[in-house]
Amino acid sequence: MCGIVGFIGDAKDANAVDIVIEGLKKLEYRGYDSSGIAIVEQNGQLVVRKKKGRISNLEEFIADENLRSGIGIGHTRWATHGEPSDANAHPHMDASGRIAIVHNGIVENYAELKKELIEEHGIEFRSETDTEVIAQLIGLYYDGDIEAAVHKAIERMTGAYSIGVICSEEPNKMVAYRKDSPLIVGLGSNCNFIASDIPALLRHVRQIYLIENNETVILTKNNVKILDSQLREVHRDVFNVTWDAEAAEKEGYDHFMLKEIHEQPKGIRETVTRRMDDDGNIVLDGINMTKEDLEKFDRVYIVACGTAYHAGLIGKFAIEKLAGISVEVDIASEFRYRDPFVNDRTLFIAISQSGETLDTLAALREAKQKGARILSVVNVVGSSVARESDDVFYTWAGPEIAVASTKAYTTQLVCMYLIGLYMGRTKGVLDDETYKKYVDGLLEMPEKVQEILRQENRIEALAKKLYKRNNVFFIGRGNDAAVSYEGSLKLKEISYINSFAIAAGELKHGTIALIEQDTLVVALATQDRLLDKMVSNIQECRTRGAYIVGIAKKGRDSVEEHSDDIIWIPECSDELSPLLTVIPLQLLSYFIAKLRGCDIDKPKNLAKSVTVE
Ligand code: G6P
Repeated sequence: MCGIVGFIGDAKDANAVDIVIEGLKKLEYRGYDSSGIAIVEQNGQLVVRKKKGRISNLEEFIADENLRSGIGIGHTRWATHGEPSDANAHPHMDASGRIAIVHNGIVENYAELKKELIEEHGIEFRSETDTEVIAQLIGLYYDGDIEAAVHKAIERMTGAYSIGVICSEEPNKMVAYRKDSPLIVGLGSNCNFIASDIPALLRHVRQIYLIENNETVILTKNNVKILDSQLREVHRDVFNVTWDAEAAEKEGYDHFMLKEIHEQPKGIRETVTRRMDDDGNIVLDGINMTKEDLEKFDRVYIVACGTAYHAGLIGKFAIEKLAGISVEVDIASEFRYRDPFVNDRTLFIAISQSGETLDTLAALREAKQKGARILSVVNVVGSSVARESDDVFYTWAGPEIAVASTKAYTTQLVCMYLIGLYMGRTKGVLDDETYKKYVDGLLEMPEKVQEILRQENRIEALAKKLYKRNNVFFIGRGNDAAVSYEGSLKLKEISYINSFAIAAGELKHGTIALIEQDTLVVALATQDRLLDKMVSNIQECRTRGAYIVGIAKKGRDSVEEHSDDIIWIPECSDELSPLLTVIPLQLLSYFIAKLRGCDIDKPKNLAKSVTVE
């Protein structure tokens, strides 16, 4: 996710270039693909330097310039609009070269604003970013008052965006604004700071203001003024940071995994709402498939590894049901060696958080070479999988740091539903009522996930009862079977407990031989149409002495009746339930691993991105 750092002070005491770059380095853990800095030099010139890749590239680039200033803004970019490149890196300038901005978030109406700026004002754009639109808008409105120009620009924009702005004509002032992306102000002595995140500032300040949505901040070296949306000055209590740097990166959570579990409502919301137009229709800007294209496909493969593969299993259900196309799901390392039946009537969907997993990439190349159309669902913009695909659909989960994937999985699921809806709609096989039912269901998901997260203490208490077990079985039917695989993987990868997932109906063909007194069975029973059959499977285990943890929608008393412990999820359709069912499984795995003293964010033998075979 993008990072912002800004400094305003006295060039005699401190160089903004050093302070901003050092702050950016503290945000490296969030992931980024380019970085940049803007300052106003002593001679009144605005200087912008930016580079693709690591911050060290930027440092090398400016090493011989001896840049020095008392005011500067900097940015680490995680690409969303436009690939990672020098041109797309922030800061961006207006056409006059007097104003520079850094930005976190997305301007939703950037395309229409860009059109207006080009057609009505003849402005030439230098990048593909939505951010440059903000810089150009501020430039357009600038008539000697940067604060007023920022306000005018903000009135024109929709979306989520926090910005930091400097102007060469007002070198003693910095303006910042927050909407839905984090922004903080650090209070120094004879200097002040802005940042998207506390770790960027901890070396210099511990007293901060937490900026709220729709607030503007005007900073000089000796003063910070916060204005609300009506431009009235507001008082803010100082927040004293007592965390150390490592805890600050995790925003107070004990582990990145827990932080990322809690980021899921936001990730799901962004992945859905940024693809909706004002009439509630899904607009997939990364996918350009016509009705004829879709009718041509006679087979769809979804290919992925690990957690992404588990998301593919749900993708199969979603696409088959919503778009009426038969789908096969393959593990990438198997697909590439089994001489799959692929031709130009094949749609190949690759799912990958990193976009760099070698097996997935190799499978993609194999399918491409045989003529398939390649659609990828990827979290990292500009990654290899994204670059080599015909159509790319981004998950917008933000960087995932814990090795165990959580928010990437749920946003991948959302993408699968959106792709199914898009295909069904484009093919004309999905009626308006069903379409709307799913769209409304997806829009309700962030709040429902939040409702489960509020049960965290209960799930932690359950983990205390269970964490000493050495064997766990996960069972479920339909969508629940697919989520069982993910639940089992989560548990084994971070707690090192031997766990096994199986479609509940398959138990009787062998695995039930392993169920004995006190064997722990986590039974997912959220599929209403299969509820009775699932309850029978639970009973089969229980009569053999298993300890059952049931997961069910509220009010399904038959599951509670046959379980030793129960976790409820909110009411939802059977099809969308995986978005909810997986949340207690993630939390349960997390707390069990924590109680066992495991290194949760970096489990042994595992890597976040597997670029070897
Ligand atoms: C590794 C990670 C998993 C991930 C898998 C696929 O094994 O530890 O969490 O699911 O790779 O990664 P990808 O980046 O392709 O989704």
